[in-house]
Amino acid sequence: MTLRPHLRLHVVSASVRPTSAARPVAGWVAGRAREHGGFDVTPVDLADLALPFLDEPEYASSGIYAHPHTRAWSALADSADAFLFVLPMYNGGFTAPFKNAIDFLHAEWRGKPVGLVSYSAGGTGGAPAARMLRPVLEAVGMVPAESSVAVPGIDGLVSAEGFRAPGGLAGELARVLDEVAALAKAPVSA
Ligand SMILES: Cc1cc2nc3c(=O)[nH]c(=O)nc-3n(C[C@H](O)[C@H](O)[C@H](O)COP(=O)(O)O)c2cc1C
Repeated sequence: MTLRPHLRLHVVSASVRPTSAARPVAGWVAGRAREHGGFDVTPVDLADLALPFLDEPEYASSGIYAHPHTRAWSALADSADAFLFVLPMYNGGFTAPFKNAIDFLHAEWRGKPVGLVSYSAGGTGGAPAARMLRPVLEAVGMVPAESSVAVPGIDGLVSAEGFRAPGGLAGELARVLDEVAALAKAPVSA
């Protein structure tokens, strides 16, 4: 019997604020993804990449990268089969640093499934930011899972102890992980 190799899943904290809630939330998400099975999970912190505003002379579609920070980000993204993006909502939308990080690359995104976990201080859980992100992800050729996770009231859920996940969240995340796994195994149309 041939064992199917695990999917390489990168869980990206898509926020760069020093006190970002993305880190504890992404830590919890990565833990659930490991427990879920079927994934080799790699945490990626956007803050660690320290990307400047897009400073490449060539379009990303050329694949010609002049700067070491771009080559490092490219290698990291390229090594994923699928992604989970953990993102906050800022003023009703996704964050500028995350859009910038997406714009740096091109072929690295194409055809890859992605699940979205959003959060916010208010009651929407950042769902508007995730909705706004979908057409961007489709523009770079990613395949977003239909289901997603939105975490409202984030300020009351994150402390020095980490992220206290509300009841039911693990089940919602499991649905997204199932979908990401299924999309990754589906044949990709040209
Ligand atoms: C610039 C900025 C704008 C924000 N706008 C909203 C908003 O529109 N709705 C909301 O519910 N929370 C908003 N918040 C609160 C954030 O969702 C919450 O603080 C979250 O933790 C921020 O993500 P971060 O910790 O990764 O920076 C905003 C926070 C910041 C810093």
